[in-house]
Amino acid sequence: MSAERAATAVAGTNIALVKYWGKRDAALNLPAAGSLSLTLDALGTRTSVRFSAALAADRLTLNGAPADARATTRVTTFLDRVRARAKIATRADVVTENTVPTASGLASSASGFAALALAATSAAGLPATPAELSELARLGSGSAARSIFGGFVEMARGARADGRDAVATPLDSDWRDVRLVVAVTSDAQKSLGSTEAMERTARTSPYYEAWIASVAADLADARAAVAARDLARLGEVAERSALRMHASALAAAPGILYWNPATVAAIHAVRALRAEGVPAHFTIDAGPHVKVLTTAASARTVADALLRTSGVLRTVVASPGEGAHLVEAA
Ligand code: DP6
Repeated sequence: MSAERAATAVAGTNIALVKYWGKRDAALNLPAAGSLSLTLDALGTRTSVRFSAALAADRLTLNGAPADARATTRVTTFLDRVRARAKIATRADVVTENTVPTASGLASSASGFAALALAATSAAGLPATPAELSELARLGSGSAARSIFGGFVEMARGARADGRDAVATPLDSDWRDVRLVVAVTSDAQKSLGSTEAMERTARTSPYYEAWIASVAADLADARAAVAARDLARLGEVAERSALRMHASALAAAPGILYWNPATVAAIHAVRALRAEGVPAHFTIDAGPHVKVLTTAASARTVADALLRTSGVLRTVVASPGEGAHLVEAA
């Protein structure tokens, strides 16, 4: 390898409609069950990686500022895997920017590790298939494995101990008529990270086993709904999966409660819309924001209703997006 090699990649974030919440192996970040998501357009991460013999340590710049030690260590651990596979020892300069609208509540490790996996392997001269990229991204963050692909994506639980089969595959990237309306309900940092929260749920919640046992049926239902492009059916699964995930976390000790009053108000608003015949189904991740699955034609109606809901600060309308891809450096 020459003294310097660089690459830049972008990846969209993704929102799970069948949730990932629990690991079968923490070290390899292997999920205890599969999941199914939609990758979003314009909401994501742009990451440049430059390996340089002149660097003594990895350097991480996050949204224009040097990252803290914790984030830098997580990236170094990830880059160590890429270096080991590429048989190089060079340190890297990593510059990463979120392309999510400011404070959308959507900044995520999913797009971050998907973009990093692609930029780092490319800069290291390491050939990688999409499945290999998905596996690598998973090692950074479980949900990142899905952001390698665009549109609807399914993440496999896998059965192997080495995790080679715990990768995502694309389901349908041509169903363009769907939208996700994000209702931002707080500007505070989330209280408890997903990694720690799912570990506590698995260790202490009496509902954890039941939650994991319920995922296979939801996946089959969601897969069929995507194949049929049946939004109502997919939305029903999404609500059920989110509520069950949160129920398992609520029952942990101490209980994990991500919702605020506006989260609950938004849930009621979505169900009221549906009662009026508007296609709208919610999902909620490890935070207080509510994400609503709807059609392109109803997205404005849904966003307006959410904006009128007490405690909702703003909304963002997102469309299906592409998988991670390389771009010219800015
Ligand atoms: C609620 O992928 O952030 O968003 O693998 O520990 O990094 P780690 O967790 P992460 O968890 C995502 C949890 C979720 C549901 C989902 O995206 O499927």
